[in-house]
Amino acid sequence: MQDYDVIVLGAGAAGLMCAIEAGKRGRKTLVLDHSAKPAEKIRISGGGRCNFTNLHASPANFLGENPRFCVSALKRYTQHDFIGLVDSHRIPWHEKTLGQLFCDTSANDIIAMLLRECERANVKVQLATKIGDINKPDERFSVATDKGALRCTSLVVATGGPSIPKMGATGFGYEVAKRFGLPVVPPRAALVPLTFDDALKQRTSELAGIAVDAIVSYGKTKFREGMLFTHRGLSGPSILQISSYWREGHDIAVNMLPDQQLLSVLKEARTTSPRQDLRTCLSEILPKRLATFLSEQHKLQGRLADQSDKVFTRAAEAVHNWRVKPIGTEGYRTAEVTLGGVDTTNLSSKTMEAKDVPGLFFIGEVVDITGHLGGFNFQWAWSSGHAAGQHV
Ligand code: FDA
Repeated sequence: MQDYDVIVLGAGAAGLMCAIEAGKRGRKTLVLDHSAKPAEKIRISGGGRCNFTNLHASPANFLGENPRFCVSALKRYTQHDFIGLVDSHRIPWHEKTLGQLFCDTSANDIIAMLLRECERANVKVQLATKIGDINKPDERFSVATDKGALRCTSLVVATGGPSIPKMGATGFGYEVAKRFGLPVVPPRAALVPLTFDDALKQRTSELAGIAVDAIVSYGKTKFREGMLFTHRGLSGPSILQISSYWREGHDIAVNMLPDQQLLSVLKEARTTSPRQDLRTCLSEILPKRLATFLSEQHKLQGRLADQSDKVFTRAAEAVHNWRVKPIGTEGYRTAEVTLGGVDTTNLSSKTMEAKDVPGLFFIGEVVDITGHLGGFNFQWAWSSGHAAGQHV
């Protein structure tokens, strides 16, 4: 039976950050992961360049049953602290848009940085290890693995959520929570493409591949970013963002021309180019295939001079307020994150420790805190990992 002060389950973003901080405090720390490689999600993140944080990260960028839970950790380890760490390793980075910071070269730079920090802090990272039963027979935890039994004073669960199972993602953390009597907010796929039913899929199939700048709304929540028509439904940043809020059975509203008022544009065109066909006019404003689709769907055709304001209003409504009801999402197979997770009611927001199970900590995506798209989920992993690292 090997003894540690701290065992961290999961060598992802949150787990490695926590282990580094624990190691720096002189705690004998072990990180376990069932995958053969550490931090696989960092490696594939941000298209291989890891959007590692966001300059504008604030509690407003997070969802959960109690989103205020993230305030303390985010305040005590900010995006600027993480940027400082990245800079200290001379990793080149740039801001893409909307405060999103990416590596210039590769996400592997972030993984290498975390592993170097682990080494400096004397943290042992043990991969390809199957984790079995976890118990707390006394003051300490026992962790069964296929490589032998372990014991520790502090056990940190950083096994993430079930998004992208083929990368080794599991709902294991939820099992551990339940095993110790902690409730779990039902998880669901988030930051995920939305899908259409067969009829709508067929009607929109010719639009696959078209991208537009759009404002996508669900109730009072709206995001303005790119939107992409796919063979299954809709994707792109604005759709991924709204997917975290959307619920089955409801519409989303899409404004596909956020910078112009189509009604005024058409009225003006009727004066300046009365002989132009409405469909041609639309295809000068929108991608051609989209304009053709909308014209067919809403019977928009004929010379501009012959069109009434009512027809123009119909066109404007179709473009500025397309109401569409997705049937579902692409699910965990492609979801960037998981909503829900270990209920924060039973965790300390300062330390991430379970209030009723001394020594048991939950950090990162396994917790019911989920960020918007744009580097916020990694910032939560760094901040919550750092918070627990000071107390394990
Ligand atoms: P994470 O999932 O990173 O780590 C969990 C670890 O636990 C893994 O190493 C896993 O193998 C291990 N594990 C799981 N089950 C286990 C078990 N039963 N036994 C042992 N080990 C187990 N976010 C962002 O801010 N910017 C971005 O650019 C992106 N891009 C992105 C792209 C894609 C394709 C995905 C899927 C996700 C993103 N994200 C992102 C989200 C981000 O990757 C995610 O929020 C963090 O990785 C969460 O960090 P954690 O450490 O909590 O879990």
